[in-house]
Amino acid sequence: MAPSKSTVLIAAVAVFVTQASAAGTVSYNGLAITPQMGWDNWNAFGCNVDEELLLNTAQKMVDYGLRDLGYYYVILDDCWSNGRTANGTLQANATKFPNGMPYVADQLHSMGLGFGMYSSAGKYTCAGYAASLGMEKQDAQTFADWGVDYLKYDNCYNEGQEGTALVSYNRYKAMSDALNATGRPILYSMCQWGQDNPWDWAQTIANSWRMSGDVYDSFDRPDSRCPCTTYDCTLPGFHCSVMNILNKAAPILNKAQPGAWNDLDMLEVGNGAMTDDEYKTHFSMWAIAKSPLIMGTDVTAMTPQTLSIYSNPAIIAINQDPLGTPATRVWLSPAQPQNETYSTDSYTVGEASFWTGQLASGDYVAAFVNGASSPTTLSASMSDIFIDLLTTGSNAPVPQISQTWDVYDLWANRMSNATAQAIIMGNYTLPTNASSMSNSTSTMPVQTYNATAMSYADGLAANETALFGLKTAELMPGGTVQAQVPAHGVVVYRLRSQGGGAGMRKRDEL
Ligand SMILES: *[C@@H]1O[C@H](CO)[C@@H](O)[C@H](O)[C@H]1NC(C)=O
Ligand SMILES: *[C@@H]1O[C@H](CO)[C@@H](O)[C@H](O)[C@H]1NC(C)=O
Ligand SMILES: *[C@@H]1O[C@H](CO)[C@@H](O)[C@H](O)[C@H]1NC(C)=O
Ligand SMILES: *[C@@H]1O[C@H](CO)[C@@H](O)[C@H](O)[C@H]1NC(C)=O
Ligand SMILES: *[C@@H]1O[C@H](CO)[C@@H](O)[C@H](O)[C@H]1NC(C)=O
Ligand SMILES: *[C@@H]1O[C@H](CO)[C@@H](O)[C@H](O)[C@H]1NC(C)=O
Ligand SMILES: *[C@@H]1O[C@H](CO)[C@@H](O)[C@H](O)[C@H]1NC(C)=O
Ligand SMILES: *[C@@H]1O[C@H](CO)[C@@H](O)[C@H](O)[C@H]1NC(C)=O
Ligand SMILES: *[C@@H]1O[C@H](CO)[C@@H](O)[C@H](O)[C@H]1NC(C)=O
Ligand SMILES: *[C@@H]1O[C@H](CO)[C@@H](O)[C@H](O)[C@H]1NC(C)=O
Repeated sequence: MAPSKSTVLIAAVAVFVTQASAAGTVSYNGLAITPQMGWDNWNAFGCNVDEELLLNTAQKMVDYGLRDLGYYYVILDDCWSNGRTANGTLQANATKFPNGMPYVADQLHSMGLGFGMYSSAGKYTCAGYAASLGMEKQDAQTFADWGVDYLKYDNCYNEGQEGTALVSYNRYKAMSDALNATGRPILYSMCQWGQDNPWDWAQTIANSWRMSGDVYDSFDRPDSRCPCTTYDCTLPGFHCSVMNILNKAAPILNKAQPGAWNDLDMLEVGNGAMTDDEYKTHFSMWAIAKSPLIMGTDVTAMTPQTLSIYSNPAIIAINQDPLGTPATRVWLSPAQPQNETYSTDSYTVGEASFWTGQLASGDYVAAFVNGASSPTTLSASMSDIFIDLLTTGSNAPVPQISQTWDVYDLWANRMSNATAQAIIMGNYTLPTNASSMSNSTSTMPVQTYNATAMSYADGLAANETALFGLKTAELMPGGTVQAQVPAHGVVVYRLRSQGGGAGMRKRDEL
């Protein structure tokens, strides 16, 4: 018996999903199947690092439920070093790390966390310490011996080994091979600022690659030291704003795949120079772009608002979605009023944009960004949302546009300040009438999630309420989805077909 049309369609979807996770095409080293999460000291502390900072931060990550949301790696950035010993082995600054690196690794591991280390594919690190160019094998072995689980590998002092893709590839592959040869699984995070377009060649040697110069704590301020406004950039610079990086990332987001992600740089959420809405936009867009989510603030001094942004499980579930497909910017348009042009730079802020992306089990993410400094109403049609299905070049039917979709607002259930404050104070108690999370031993409120007890993939499949925000609307066939978007703000929706499953059940009714 010939399969019915709907069976063929479902089979086609299944083949697509299988290909995305077929052996060989996924994660060259088996790591970062979803974007890595964690904390790095650089954005908040720069060179001011020591053992106490790392271990105190790690303890708070556990206490605040951040580890169990998925923030796993505690990453030590530059300035930990005291150069090399007589035989060439890297050594830690003994004042900053009196018990040595293996001790730090052991402590983190005993807390259920991973240990991230830093070096540069150059003669020196950016702060001028001994780095690993030409010393890859020895340094990789040192890191493995120390119990390191993650390497952030910078690009300073590269002695001119850049300028073509192959030269950069070979320089970064040397460390990739060296890490592999140790036999220890070590997530490899290239911090190469997008030079020589790593999104075209790094998937088979690294788990993530930075695609721009360094972020700084600004939503949209132009800065001469971050001169580039497009992805095609020969001087990546630093002091890049959130909007600058987001605009540069838009055309290359589709280059990511499970095990190999565009890194939009560490998060600035909580560092003080942006508004709450701006930080929500920053966090949300990094999440739906499938960037690594690396907290970059002082966790030991977090405000309740900061904790409640980093702790939004409905947004994190988009980032950690098993399909691993980054969202796409469907449109970008000048917002009203159109009076926000910075004369000091070539790009215009104040744009509005709409982004969509496919998620596992047929759901979609739909996000509106308002770059303007006054609130606005934005809307998108079904042909905006399902643009990729409508432009596949085939005559395949697009059942999604004939379906009714539940619209979930992913910020509507944000943890209250009072609850976040109680968690920070260490005296949060579950309401006696509340069943916490159905499948965990969590001591945390229903607005957060325990991914240690139940993975995001399993929680999504089980319809765990924490991962779905709040249903606020329905999108009818031919309808539009609308959002009131605050100044410099974001609205993020998850769309679920009322047809259920992969959005295919309604096929028969067409
Ligand atoms: C080691 O750390 C101490 C304490 O922070 C600092 O004074 C010293 O300069 C560091 N040494 C190096 C080589 O950076
Ligand atoms: C190099 O010296 C350090 C101590 O300074 C020692 O721990 C290490 O085993 C030595 N490595 C080799 C290869 O001899
Ligand atoms: C080393 O590379 C091989 C081939 O890509 C991979 O199967 C293996 O998991 C890697 N091992 C480590 C420790 O990264
Ligand atoms: C320009 O934008 C500011 C906010 O930055 C707003 O207050 C003002 O009304 C706008 N002007 C016009 C003419 O639209
Ligand atoms: C949380 O606190 C911030 C700053 O004090 C405030 O702007 C915000 O409205 C508060 N949120 C809620 C839900 O009370
Ligand atoms: C939680 O601790 C803070 C500070 O110690 C205290 O002010 C507050 O009353 C405590 N709340 C509860 C519910 O125990
Ligand atoms: C638990 O009690 C609080 C306050 O009495 C109430 O607001 C809340 O809705 C209750 N929750 C459940 C799940 O019954
Ligand atoms: C999760 O909880 C539901 C009910 O709350 C239960 O039916 C299911 O068996 C649980 N799953 C696991 C893996 O514990
Ligand atoms: C999350 O679940 C794990 C395993 O069930 C448990 O050990 C841990 O304490 C839970 N975390 C929180 C914050 O409740
Ligand atoms: C989850 O919800 C969808 C509808 O939104 C439904 O089709 C599906 O059966 C539910 N799954 C479970 C395990 O309850």
